[in-house]
Amino acid sequence: MIIAIDGPAASGKGTLSRRLAEEYGFHHLDTGLTYRATAKALIDAGLPLDDEKVAEKVAKGVELAGLDRDILSSHEIGEAASKIAVMPSVRRALVEAQRDFSQREPGTVLDGRDIGTVVCPNAQVKLYVTASPEVRARRRYDEILAKGGMADYAAIFADVKKRDERDMGRADSPLKPAEDAYLLDTSEMSIEAAFQAAKVVIDAALKMT
Ligand code: DC
Repeated sequence: MIIAIDGPAASGKGTLSRRLAEEYGFHHLDTGLTYRATAKALIDAGLPLDDEKVAEKVAKGVELAGLDRDILSSHEIGEAASKIAVMPSVRRALVEAQRDFSQREPGTVLDGRDIGTVVCPNAQVKLYVTASPEVRARRRYDEILAKGGMADYAAIFADVKKRDERDMGRADSPLKPAEDAYLLDTSEMSIEAAFQAAKVVIDAALKMT
């Protein structure tokens, strides 16, 4: 059983994916972390972010075990990840590792941008989680303030828009809903409500397998 969850940055898909994996006892992979880990390894080694051959080599060495969002969460790493994610050979290397992961028993939840369309087109459940750019920027802003940080809403909003454009506009595996994805707009939904809505879809799919 594979549950594919796609959506833009700050849509709430990460939180939703973790909760669903816990609920069903499935393995979870946040595929954004594979792009982030590749970007961080390049930055740490002082390597360029615009050399596809170099980035491909680094991507092939990324270990799925031990990927940690806390270490990979910085804005700089997110931006760099979005840049190297346009490179087809980087994507090929990471998608291969993601597909291997998706086969784990008893089931998996993968979240990202291209899971339902490219990584696992045969997933039994596909969710496309979204929210308006304003709501997503507001959530990120609130999250930073809650952690005691300083944030500038206008800058975060501009950033969300820029990231959407890059992720949706790239030629290879752009972010878009799979034709058979269930659309979940969480703009006016709590995490709990989104979780319950997703559960209804997944339980229905489980009954059919
Ligand atoms: O979800 P995130 O912010 O951690 O993802 C970082 C970048 O990685 C995102 O801007 C685009 C890229 N990405 C991707 O291209 N495909 C995925 N399946 C996941 C992430």
